[in-house]
Amino acid sequence: MELIPQTGAGKKVCIVGASGKLGRYMVKHALDRGYEVVGVCREKSVHKLADYAGRITVHGAFTNDREVIARAVDGCDAVLTVLVPWGVHDYASGTAKAVMDFAKPGARLVYSCGWHITRDGRDRYKRGIKAAVAFARFMKITRLVDIADQYRATDMIFASDTRWTVVRGSDLEEGPSQGLPVWSRHVGDPVLESNLTRRTDFALFMVAAVEDDSLVREAPAINGRLTPSALAHQGEAAA
Ligand SMILES: NC(=O)c1ccc[n+]([C@@H]2O[C@H](COP(=O)([O-])OP(=O)(O)OC[C@H]3O[C@@H](n4cnc5c(N)ncnc54)[C@H](OP(=O)(O)O)[C@@H]3O)[C@@H](O)[C@H]2O)c1
Repeated sequence: MELIPQTGAGKKVCIVGASGKLGRYMVKHALDRGYEVVGVCREKSVHKLADYAGRITVHGAFTNDREVIARAVDGCDAVLTVLVPWGVHDYASGTAKAVMDFAKPGARLVYSCGWHITRDGRDRYKRGIKAAVAFARFMKITRLVDIADQYRATDMIFASDTRWTVVRGSDLEEGPSQGLPVWSRHVGDPVLESNLTRRTDFALFMVAAVEDDSLVREAPAINGRLTPSALAHQGEAAA
């Protein structure tokens, strides 16, 4: 059996968006590392965390509910937040703002998003990603999604003086862990070329970032460590 270092012993993390696919993997990794875990997810999704009943505290509410976030992050050493651009009511930016406003000073704040988010405009995107973003922007007319809100959320995080990390996920797949993904500062860097990460490893990176001060105020773009480009350009990965 793999011995997992108990890096979280005596510490508490809040996982905002805990019931989603990424969120549930984060809950597992955090518990495996000995963290006390508090989760926030929509009331109607609380049942998706049934496997963890009795092992975590769950707050059922929309993740931009400021009162609930204030209670959930109380006393937490870290907050892991899934940023999603659902609806047209500033869901992602409202969630990020609530986390920033109520997390204790000095807490590690780790957020998820995709490669499409850019911190400094120096990412080099292929046509497929540009087309996907253009389509997502167009989809605002359905009022189901507002990708601009995810940009507003991350711009607010980048400008903050909190101890943040914005983890930018590549395309995702399911499957057993391949270990901690490699990362680089800019999409377009050769090590990222394969653009494929196991979802469990995205979650692993989010949880590991809590203890990795070298990632404070970084926006790592990640890629699976066993992908062809990661193996071919091992020395060029940031970690
Ligand atoms: N999917 C990809 O290929 C991909 C690629 C790169 C990066 N990412 C990033 O990875 C993270 C997780 O995304 P995911 O696609 O893998 O999905 P996910 O983990 O299942 O997360 C989706 C989240 O959105 C919530 N949600 C769904 N519909 C909603 C609605 N109408 N209103 C409010 N909340 C709603 C879900 O909550 P419930 O459990 O309550 O439904 C869940 O917390 C995101 O930050 C995303 O930007 C995803």
